[in-house]
Amino acid sequence: MLKVGVIGCGYWGPNLIRNFNGLPDAEVTAIADLDEKRLAHVGLLYPGARKTTDHLTIVQDPTIDAVVVATPMSTHYPLGRQVLEAGKHLFVEKPMATTSDDCRALIDLARRRDRVLMVGHTFIYTPAVRKIKALIDSGELGDVYYVNVQRVNLGIFQKDANVVWDLAPHDVSIVNYLFGADPVRVSATGRCYVQHDLGIEDVAFLTLEYPEGRLAHIHVSWLDPNKIRNTTVVGSRKMLVYDDVSPAEKIRVYDKGVDVQPHYDNFGEFQLLYRSGDVFIPRLDTVEPLRVEAQHFVDVVAGKTELMTTGVHGLRVVQVLEQACRSIKEDGRPQDLAYAL
Ligand SMILES: NC(=O)c1ccc[n+]([C@@H]2O[C@H](COP(=O)([O-])OP(=O)(O)OC[C@H]3O[C@@H](n4cnc5c(N)ncnc54)[C@H](O)[C@@H]3O)[C@@H](O)[C@H]2O)c1
Repeated sequence: MLKVGVIGCGYWGPNLIRNFNGLPDAEVTAIADLDEKRLAHVGLLYPGARKTTDHLTIVQDPTIDAVVVATPMSTHYPLGRQVLEAGKHLFVEKPMATTSDDCRALIDLARRRDRVLMVGHTFIYTPAVRKIKALIDSGELGDVYYVNVQRVNLGIFQKDANVVWDLAPHDVSIVNYLFGADPVRVSATGRCYVQHDLGIEDVAFLTLEYPEGRLAHIHVSWLDPNKIRNTTVVGSRKMLVYDDVSPAEKIRVYDKGVDVQPHYDNFGEFQLLYRSGDVFIPRLDTVEPLRVEAQHFVDVVAGKTELMTTGVHGLRVVQVLEQACRSIKEDGRPQDLAYAL
């Protein structure tokens, strides 16, 4: 039985506590939060778990094997470092840290201590994203040309990070996973419409260039009337739309495309043939992604399977976010991405 401590029980932490605690081979034995009221409220649901406002109580507890860090991103590195230095396995929420140097330091520490370091890129554990990956890898969509993402809603305006750091980690991690590659260049434009005085962007448009000419465009916003979670994947054979807000029919695969006539002698004969066939809605498992994610962490610690969202995966996402923000500051100038680690 893996004994787990959780640091941070604000909005997201309770979901992690519930899922880790619901696993047959894990138990949340301690919960920490600086906010006493929040701790007392969440703690009521877990009478068996120790509650503390001092996270060091968890970090220094020899009975705890692994620690989940679900605190604001600026605390991921200092807390994560303490967890690993104490010889415990670490599950850290996304984004892994606020700089790529801090990510590298955590990766290095985990290696030296031989501990598991997993980053909470939840979408990689969703049935929908896994289905899309399977469709791409099977060749069902043909050559994938580009991905277009909209992740927008009204709020919640963050004070310690812009909308790129808040929302785009999901999409960068998803597209990296789907393409099985990291982008080579990023350009971005963003604006601070609401928190202008704080210089915090609330709207941003990112363009990621991947190997083989593939593109991803990501629109993230806290300033939109509707909650939209739409991803379009366009391939040479088929196209699909993934609507994460849809309760039942999350993925629609369109047998649509355009073919160029293979032979033509002059421009007058150049013809495009439009194809428009059936729409297919794949059945998806109804499993809760966080449960899959929590079980995966426990299985990796037990040596049963290989880690999917590694520290390096988390680092790659942070590198893209860093360069995207640099591009925003430089009026959209494209920034190269080099991955020495
Ligand atoms: N994977 C996902 O889909 C997903 C979704 C939402 C949030 N998140 C991530 O989860 C993390 C937390 O987000 P949130 O929305 O729950 O934030 P939140 O502000 O609602 O909660 C954070 C909690 O951490 C506590 N905290 C801060 N420093 C602490 C410390 N040193 N010791 C103990 N407690 C401390 C705060 O008191 C607060 O209760 C962020 O990294 C966020 O990006 C991930």
